[in-house]
Amino acid sequence: MKKIIIDTDPGQDDAVAIMLALASPELEVVGLTIVAGNVPLDLTCRNARMICDLAGKPETKVYPGAKKPLNGPQVTAEHAHGNSGLDGIDVFDPITPLQEKDAIDFLLNTIEEHPPNSITLCPIGPLTNIALAITKQPAIKTRIAEIAMMGGGYFIQGNVTPSAEFNIFADPEAAEIVFRSGVPITMFPLDVTHKVLANKKRIECIKSVNNSASMALANMLSFYGKYNSKKYGEDGAPLHDPTVIAWLIAPSLFSGKACNVEIEVNSYLTRGATVVDWWGVTGRKENATVINEVNADGFFQLLYERLANLS
Ligand code: BDR
Ligand code: CA
Repeated sequence: MKKIIIDTDPGQDDAVAIMLALASPELEVVGLTIVAGNVPLDLTCRNARMICDLAGKPETKVYPGAKKPLNGPQVTAEHAHGNSGLDGIDVFDPITPLQEKDAIDFLLNTIEEHPPNSITLCPIGPLTNIALAITKQPAIKTRIAEIAMMGGGYFIQGNVTPSAEFNIFADPEAAEIVFRSGVPITMFPLDVTHKVLANKKRIECIKSVNNSASMALANMLSFYGKYNSKKYGEDGAPLHDPTVIAWLIAPSLFSGKACNVEIEVNSYLTRGATVVDWWGVTGRKENATVINEVNADGFFQLLYERLANLS
Protein backbone atom coordinates (compact mmCIF):
# COMPACT_ATOMS: atom_id res chain seq x y z
CA MET A 1 0.00 0.00 0.00
CA LYS A 2 1.43 3.37 -1.07
CA LYS A 3 1.47 6.04 1.66
CA ILE A 4 0.43 9.44 0.35
CA ILE A 5 -0.14 12.97 1.64
CA ILE A 6 -2.61 14.99 -0.44
CA ASP A 7 -1.86 18.72 -0.36
CA THR A 8 -5.11 20.34 -1.42
CA ASP A 9 -7.33 23.45 -1.71
CA PRO A 10 -10.84 21.99 -2.22
CA GLY A 11 -12.45 22.70 -4.88
CA GLN A 12 -14.91 20.27 -6.54
CA ASP A 13 -12.18 18.48 -8.50
CA ASP A 14 -10.08 18.21 -5.33
CA ALA A 15 -13.14 16.54 -3.75
CA VAL A 16 -13.13 13.86 -6.47
CA ALA A 17 -9.40 13.31 -5.94
CA ILE A 18 -9.71 12.98 -2.16
CA MET A 19 -12.68 10.61 -2.36
CA LEU A 20 -10.98 8.46 -5.01
CA ALA A 21 -7.92 8.15 -2.76
CA LEU A 22 -9.94 7.40 0.38
CA ALA A 23 -11.86 4.71 -1.54
CA SER A 24 -8.80 2.92 -2.93
CA PRO A 25 -7.12 0.03 -1.07
CA GLU A 26 -3.81 0.63 -2.92
CA LEU A 27 -3.39 3.96 -1.10
CA GLU A 28 -3.06 4.96 2.53
CA VAL A 29 -3.92 8.64 2.96
CA VAL A 30 -1.60 9.54 5.84
CA GLY A 31 -3.06 13.04 5.94
CA LEU A 32 -4.50 15.96 4.03
CA THR A 33 -2.48 19.16 4.20
CA ILE A 34 -4.51 22.20 3.31
CA VAL A 35 -3.47 25.31 1.45
CA ALA A 36 -5.26 28.51 0.44
CA GLY A 37 -6.12 28.36 -3.25
CA ASN A 38 -9.52 28.04 -4.85
CA VAL A 39 -10.90 29.88 -1.79
CA PRO A 40 -9.21 31.25 1.38
CA LEU A 41 -7.68 28.85 3.91
CA ASP A 42 -10.54 28.81 6.43
CA LEU A 43 -12.86 27.61 3.66
CA THR A 44 -10.45 25.09 2.10
CA CYS A 45 -9.96 23.58 5.60
CA ARG A 46 -13.72 23.37 6.16
CA ASN A 47 -14.26 21.93 2.68
CA ALA A 48 -11.65 19.21 3.18
CA ARG A 49 -13.38 18.21 6.42
CA MET A 50 -16.79 18.16 4.68
CA ILE A 51 -15.36 15.88 1.98
CA CYS A 52 -14.06 13.44 4.64
CA ASP A 53 -17.50 13.42 6.28
CA LEU A 54 -19.23 12.78 2.93
CA ALA A 55 -16.81 9.93 2.21
CA GLY A 56 -17.65 8.38 5.60
CA LYS A 57 -14.00 8.82 6.71
CA PRO A 58 -14.07 11.32 9.61
CA GLU A 59 -10.92 9.70 11.03
CA THR A 60 -8.87 11.30 8.20
CA LYS A 61 -6.25 13.73 9.53
CA VAL A 62 -6.62 17.27 8.15
CA TYR A 63 -3.86 19.83 8.81
CA PRO A 64 -4.07 23.60 8.17
CA GLY A 65 -1.24 25.09 6.09
CA ALA A 66 -0.32 28.33 4.35
CA LYS A 67 -2.78 31.22 4.20
CA LYS A 68 -0.89 33.18 1.55
CA PRO A 69 1.55 32.58 -1.31
CA LEU A 70 5.29 33.07 -0.70
CA ASN A 71 5.26 36.27 -2.74
CA GLY A 72 2.82 38.49 -4.51
CA PRO A 73 -0.93 38.87 -4.16
CA GLN A 74 -3.29 36.05 -3.22
CA VAL A 75 -5.32 34.68 -6.14
CA THR A 76 -8.53 32.68 -5.61
CA ALA A 77 -11.00 31.01 -8.01
CA GLU A 78 -14.55 31.61 -6.78
CA HIS A 79 -15.45 32.30 -10.43
CA ALA A 80 -14.96 28.57 -11.13
CA HIS A 81 -15.79 26.91 -7.80
CA GLY A 82 -18.42 29.27 -6.32
CA ASN A 83 -18.18 31.27 -3.11
CA SER A 84 -17.97 28.21 -0.86
CA GLY A 85 -15.41 26.48 -3.12
CA LEU A 86 -17.75 23.47 -3.21
CA ASP A 87 -20.85 25.05 -4.76
CA GLY A 88 -23.40 22.49 -5.89
CA ILE A 89 -23.94 21.11 -2.36
CA ASP A 90 -25.15 22.79 0.82
CA VAL A 91 -22.44 23.75 3.27
CA PHE A 92 -22.62 21.99 6.67
CA ASP A 93 -20.59 21.86 9.87
CA PRO A 94 -18.38 18.76 9.50
CA ILE A 95 -17.49 16.34 12.30
CA THR A 96 -14.03 15.53 10.87
CA PRO A 97 -11.75 17.55 13.16
CA LEU A 98 -9.10 20.03 12.07
CA GLN A 99 -5.79 18.97 13.63
CA GLU A 100 -3.91 21.53 15.72
CA LYS A 101 -0.57 20.73 14.16
CA ASP A 102 0.51 22.93 11.28
CA ALA A 103 0.68 21.28 7.81
CA ILE A 104 4.36 22.14 7.34
CA ASP A 105 5.37 20.44 10.62
CA PHE A 106 3.15 17.46 9.80
CA LEU A 107 4.83 17.10 6.39
CA LEU A 108 8.33 17.34 7.91
CA ASN A 109 7.69 15.03 10.85
CA THR A 110 5.92 12.41 8.73
CA ILE A 111 8.66 12.31 6.11
CA GLU A 112 11.36 12.14 8.81
CA GLU A 113 9.62 9.44 10.83
CA HIS A 114 9.04 7.11 7.86
CA PRO A 115 11.76 5.17 6.04
CA PRO A 116 13.30 7.07 3.11
CA ASN A 117 11.26 7.01 -0.12
CA SER A 118 8.11 5.74 1.52
CA ILE A 119 5.97 8.91 1.38
CA THR A 120 4.53 10.25 -1.90
CA LEU A 121 3.35 13.85 -1.97
CA CYS A 122 0.31 14.70 -4.07
CA PRO A 123 -0.09 18.49 -4.37
CA ILE A 124 -3.31 19.44 -6.16
CA GLY A 125 -3.35 23.13 -5.22
CA PRO A 126 -0.77 25.96 -5.12
CA LEU A 127 2.63 24.59 -4.07
CA THR A 128 3.13 26.88 -1.05
CA ASN A 129 3.07 24.18 1.68
CA ILE A 130 5.49 21.91 -0.17
CA ALA A 131 7.90 24.77 -0.87
CA LEU A 132 7.78 25.92 2.77
CA ALA A 133 8.54 22.39 4.01
CA ILE A 134 11.46 21.91 1.59
CA THR A 135 12.89 25.32 2.46
CA LYS A 136 12.58 24.80 6.22
CA GLN A 137 14.24 21.37 6.15
CA PRO A 138 16.11 20.80 2.84
CA ALA A 139 17.30 17.36 4.00
CA ILE A 140 13.79 15.93 3.54
CA LYS A 141 14.15 16.24 -0.24
CA THR A 142 16.12 13.00 -0.43
CA ARG A 143 13.53 11.18 1.71
CA ILE A 144 10.43 11.96 -0.42
CA ALA A 145 9.56 9.04 -2.74
CA GLU A 146 8.09 11.34 -5.39
CA ILE A 147 5.85 14.32 -6.03
CA ALA A 148 2.81 13.66 -8.26
CA MET A 149 1.16 17.02 -8.84
CA MET A 150 -1.55 18.75 -10.86
CA GLY A 151 -0.48 22.02 -12.40
CA GLY A 152 0.79 23.84 -15.42
CA GLY A 153 0.21 23.44 -19.12
CA TYR A 154 2.18 23.28 -22.33
CA PHE A 155 0.22 22.94 -25.58
CA ILE A 156 -2.77 24.20 -23.57
CA GLN A 157 -0.95 27.02 -21.86
CA GLY A 158 -3.14 28.61 -19.23
CA ASN A 159 -6.58 28.84 -17.67
CA VAL A 160 -6.26 31.96 -15.49
CA THR A 161 -3.97 33.95 -17.79
CA PRO A 162 -3.20 33.15 -21.43
CA SER A 163 0.06 31.58 -20.20
CA ALA A 164 -0.54 30.27 -16.68
CA GLU A 165 -2.55 27.54 -15.00
CA PHE A 166 -4.18 28.37 -11.64
CA ASN A 167 -2.10 26.25 -9.23
CA ILE A 168 1.19 27.58 -10.60
CA PHE A 169 -0.03 31.17 -11.09
CA ALA A 170 -1.27 31.29 -7.48
CA ASP A 171 2.31 30.81 -6.21
CA PRO A 172 4.99 30.79 -8.94
CA GLU A 173 7.89 31.17 -6.47
CA ALA A 174 6.74 28.05 -4.61
CA ALA A 175 6.45 26.15 -7.87
CA GLU A 176 9.98 27.20 -8.82
CA ILE A 177 11.34 25.83 -5.51
CA VAL A 178 9.52 22.51 -6.04
CA PHE A 179 10.61 22.07 -9.68
CA ARG A 180 14.22 22.84 -8.74
CA SER A 181 14.19 20.53 -5.70
CA GLY A 182 15.57 17.42 -7.41
CA VAL A 183 12.68 15.33 -6.05
CA PRO A 184 11.23 13.09 -8.84
CA ILE A 185 8.12 14.86 -10.18
CA THR A 186 5.22 13.59 -12.27
CA MET A 187 3.21 16.53 -13.58
CA PHE A 188 -0.43 16.44 -14.70
CA PRO A 189 -0.91 19.63 -16.75
CA LEU A 190 -4.02 21.01 -18.46
CA ASP A 191 -2.97 19.06 -21.57
CA VAL A 192 -4.05 15.81 -19.92
CA THR A 193 -6.77 17.06 -17.56
CA HIS A 194 -8.78 18.52 -20.46
CA LYS A 195 -9.05 14.97 -21.80
CA VAL A 196 -10.91 13.83 -18.65
CA LEU A 197 -14.30 15.50 -19.02
CA ALA A 198 -17.15 14.96 -16.57
CA ASN A 199 -20.01 15.20 -19.06
CA LYS A 200 -23.71 14.68 -18.22
CA LYS A 201 -23.62 10.94 -18.98
CA ARG A 202 -20.62 10.39 -16.72
CA ILE A 203 -22.15 12.49 -13.94
CA GLU A 204 -25.27 10.26 -14.18
CA CYS A 205 -23.03 7.19 -13.75
CA ILE A 206 -21.43 8.78 -10.66
CA LYS A 207 -24.90 9.52 -9.28
CA SER A 208 -26.07 5.95 -9.87
CA VAL A 209 -23.36 4.66 -7.49
CA ASN A 210 -25.94 5.97 -5.05
CA ASN A 211 -24.10 6.66 -1.80
CA SER A 212 -23.58 9.96 0.06
CA ALA A 213 -20.18 10.52 -1.56
CA SER A 214 -21.34 9.91 -5.12
CA MET A 215 -24.54 11.96 -4.74
CA ALA A 216 -22.54 14.90 -3.38
CA LEU A 217 -19.96 14.61 -6.18
CA ALA A 218 -22.67 14.48 -8.84
CA ASN A 219 -24.20 17.69 -7.47
CA MET A 220 -20.83 19.45 -7.22
CA LEU A 221 -19.84 18.40 -10.73
CA SER A 222 -23.13 19.59 -12.21
CA PHE A 223 -22.35 23.07 -10.86
CA TYR A 224 -18.68 22.93 -11.89
CA GLY A 225 -19.61 21.63 -15.34
CA LYS A 226 -21.79 24.63 -16.17
CA TYR A 227 -18.96 27.14 -15.68
CA ASN A 228 -16.42 25.01 -17.52
CA SER A 229 -18.64 24.09 -20.49
CA LYS A 230 -19.44 27.77 -21.02
CA LYS A 231 -15.79 28.83 -20.78
CA TYR A 232 -14.18 26.10 -22.91
CA GLY A 233 -17.07 24.92 -25.08
CA GLU A 234 -16.20 21.37 -24.07
CA ASP A 235 -18.62 18.57 -23.16
CA GLY A 236 -18.25 18.77 -19.35
CA ALA A 237 -15.73 19.93 -16.78
CA PRO A 238 -12.09 18.79 -16.84
CA LEU A 239 -11.41 16.68 -13.74
CA HIS A 240 -7.95 18.09 -13.11
CA ASP A 241 -6.94 16.88 -9.67
CA PRO A 242 -8.09 13.24 -9.66
CA THR A 243 -5.76 12.43 -12.57
CA VAL A 244 -2.91 12.41 -10.01
CA ILE A 245 -4.66 9.85 -7.81
CA ALA A 246 -5.86 7.69 -10.71
CA TRP A 247 -2.27 7.50 -11.99
CA LEU A 248 -1.03 6.25 -8.61
CA ILE A 249 -3.66 3.49 -8.71
CA ALA A 250 -3.59 2.64 -12.43
CA PRO A 251 -0.53 4.13 -14.15
CA SER A 252 -1.21 2.20 -17.37
CA LEU A 253 -4.13 4.58 -18.05
CA PHE A 254 -1.62 7.40 -18.67
CA SER A 255 1.47 8.23 -20.69
CA GLY A 256 3.87 11.13 -21.05
CA LYS A 257 7.56 11.89 -21.27
CA ALA A 258 10.47 13.12 -19.19
CA CYS A 259 11.19 16.82 -19.82
CA ASN A 260 12.84 19.83 -18.30
CA VAL A 261 10.26 22.15 -16.74
CA GLU A 262 11.11 25.65 -15.51
CA ILE A 263 8.74 28.18 -13.96
CA GLU A 264 8.49 31.76 -15.22
CA VAL A 265 8.38 34.06 -12.18
CA ASN A 266 9.37 37.45 -13.51
CA SER A 267 7.49 38.31 -16.68
CA TYR A 268 4.49 40.64 -16.49
CA LEU A 269 2.71 38.74 -19.27
CA THR A 270 3.72 35.14 -18.58
CA ARG A 271 4.27 34.93 -14.79
CA GLY A 272 3.34 31.41 -13.64
CA ALA A 273 3.95 29.77 -17.02
CA THR A 274 5.44 26.26 -16.99
CA VAL A 275 8.18 26.29 -19.62
CA VAL A 276 8.15 22.65 -20.72
CA ASP A 277 11.02 21.59 -22.97
CA TRP A 278 8.83 18.99 -24.70
CA TRP A 279 11.14 18.62 -27.72
CA GLY A 280 14.37 18.60 -25.70
CA VAL A 281 15.77 21.69 -27.41
CA THR A 282 17.51 23.33 -24.43
CA GLY A 283 19.83 20.61 -23.17
CA ARG A 284 18.55 21.39 -19.67
CA LYS A 285 18.31 18.40 -17.35
CA GLU A 286 14.97 16.53 -17.24
CA ASN A 287 13.28 17.20 -13.90
CA ALA A 288 9.70 15.99 -14.45
CA THR A 289 7.64 13.40 -16.26
CA VAL A 290 4.96 15.40 -18.07
CA ILE A 291 1.78 13.40 -18.63
CA ASN A 292 -0.17 14.22 -21.78
CA GLU A 293 -2.30 11.17 -22.65
CA VAL A 294 -5.03 9.35 -20.74
CA ASN A 295 -7.60 6.61 -21.32
CA ALA A 296 -10.58 8.71 -20.16
CA ASP A 297 -13.14 5.88 -20.23
CA GLY A 298 -10.78 3.76 -18.15
CA PHE A 299 -10.37 6.66 -15.72
CA PHE A 300 -14.14 7.01 -15.22
CA GLN A 301 -14.65 3.25 -14.90
CA LEU A 302 -12.07 3.27 -12.09
CA LEU A 303 -13.81 6.21 -10.43
CA TYR A 304 -17.28 4.57 -10.48
CA GLU A 305 -15.88 1.30 -9.11
CA ARG A 306 -13.95 2.96 -6.31
CA LEU A 307 -16.74 5.31 -5.24
CA ALA A 308 -18.88 2.22 -4.62
CA ASN A 309 -16.41 1.27 -1.84
CA LEU A 310 -17.49 4.34 0.21
CA SER A 311 -20.38 4.04 2.63
C1 BDR B 1 -6.50 23.59 -10.77
O1 BDR B 1 -6.93 24.82 -10.21
C2 BDR B 1 -8.01 24.61 -9.33
O2 BDR B 1 -9.02 25.52 -9.61
C3 BDR B 1 -8.42 23.17 -9.47
O3 BDR B 1 -8.83 22.64 -8.23
C4 BDR B 1 -7.18 22.50 -9.99
O4 BDR B 1 -6.34 22.09 -8.93
C5 BDR B 1 -6.83 23.59 -12.25
O5 BDR B 1 -6.21 24.66 -12.89
CA1 CA C 1 -7.12 21.95 -6.60
